[in-house]
Amino acid sequence: MHTTSEATEPVEKALYDVLAAEVFLERTADIINAGAQSVMLSIGHRLGLFDLMASLSPESSQQIADKAGLAERYVREWLAVMVTANIVNYDASLKTYHLPKSHAACLTRDAELGNYAVYAQFIPLMGAAQDHILRCFESGGGTKYGDYPCFHQIMSEDSEQSVVSSLFDVILPLITGIDDQLHIGIKVLDIGCGKGYALTAMAGRYPQSQFTGYDLCEEAVVAANHLAKVRDLKNIKFEVKDMATFNEQDEYDLITSFDAVHDQKNPEGLVKGIHRALRHSGVYLMQDIGGSAHLENNIDFPMASLLYSISCMHCTPISIGQGGEGLGTMWGWETAQAMLESAYFHSIKRHVLPHDPMNVWFISHKEMSHG
Ligand SMILES: C[S@@+](CC[C@H](N)C(=O)[O-])C[C@H]1O[C@@H](n2cnc3c(N)ncnc32)[C@H](O)[C@@H]1O
Repeated sequence: MHTTSEATEPVEKALYDVLAAEVFLERTADIINAGAQSVMLSIGHRLGLFDLMASLSPESSQQIADKAGLAERYVREWLAVMVTANIVNYDASLKTYHLPKSHAACLTRDAELGNYAVYAQFIPLMGAAQDHILRCFESGGGTKYGDYPCFHQIMSEDSEQSVVSSLFDVILPLITGIDDQLHIGIKVLDIGCGKGYALTAMAGRYPQSQFTGYDLCEEAVVAANHLAKVRDLKNIKFEVKDMATFNEQDEYDLITSFDAVHDQKNPEGLVKGIHRALRHSGVYLMQDIGGSAHLENNIDFPMASLLYSISCMHCTPISIGQGGEGLGTMWGWETAQAMLESAYFHSIKRHVLPHDPMNVWFISHKEMSHG
């Protein structure tokens, strides 16, 4: 507990603005409270509680727990967090809980505004990696994918919202004529494909084209191949491959990477390898984090603290753990553009899409005549 002696009090008062310190203390308390709420958003998402509650009228904790097939004591404690966080409405006389439609609109799996509870999962994910990261601060070393439980599941849910949901209406139309080419039949490669949600969606829509996905992690590749099998897709394959050894030539008409360059061992070498692997008329579609390389430009960037935190806890140590330079999540669109230019890509175009303000999309052509 804090104590002050009368003798030192006048000096301490002169050292800082007490009012500003009290305001900051309140802000710090809010940060900690919101952090705890984020963990509970993640729990509600993973257990399907938001989806269930969105379909219910006001009900008791027992009724909600029964319908969810969960233990009432835990559901009641979770509901208390939701009520004190002003997420769920509580009728104290009836002891009933209700998730209003206006809150369900960003917390459920079919949420109209996008499901923000998906992003809340990154908070407990970072917590799970804390001990590894403490050691990284001391040693300067890195981490491996196995240090992050459920990483690929969370990433694929993120990708489903930022990529798959807009792939055919917004993203692919950024490349002139690609829809026609995909219908006729071309070769497509996705780098760092994760669980393959984007590529399987494309393979289903364009049966004449051939799709390949590469990823370092066997767990992700197994899940991707399983998804392709479930959807009975014959024009797609996923392989475990370390892109640090990527060395193909004139193979693909379209190469994509969705949030998969900045945390590589050697992003610059990879971008050069992508240029080499494209056919002459080929095009590279890169989605990556859209922050600036300069901290001062990111002060108002959407969810900048979250992105820097993910950088510190995941993207930087994952790259360093592969022997890489650890550019971090906020490597900056300027860095990405410079890499594309130094790999001799042409007609490089940069887009920021309204549904996805955190990311930047680059369309780059191997040859000058395109775009
Ligand atoms: C941020 S995740 C994005 C995954 C996926 N594209 C998506 O949007 O859901 C980055 C992916 O790159 C993969 N990756 C990282 N380093 C790699 C490497 N050296 N070779 C191949 N894949 C790698 C990871 O396993 C991970 O699936």
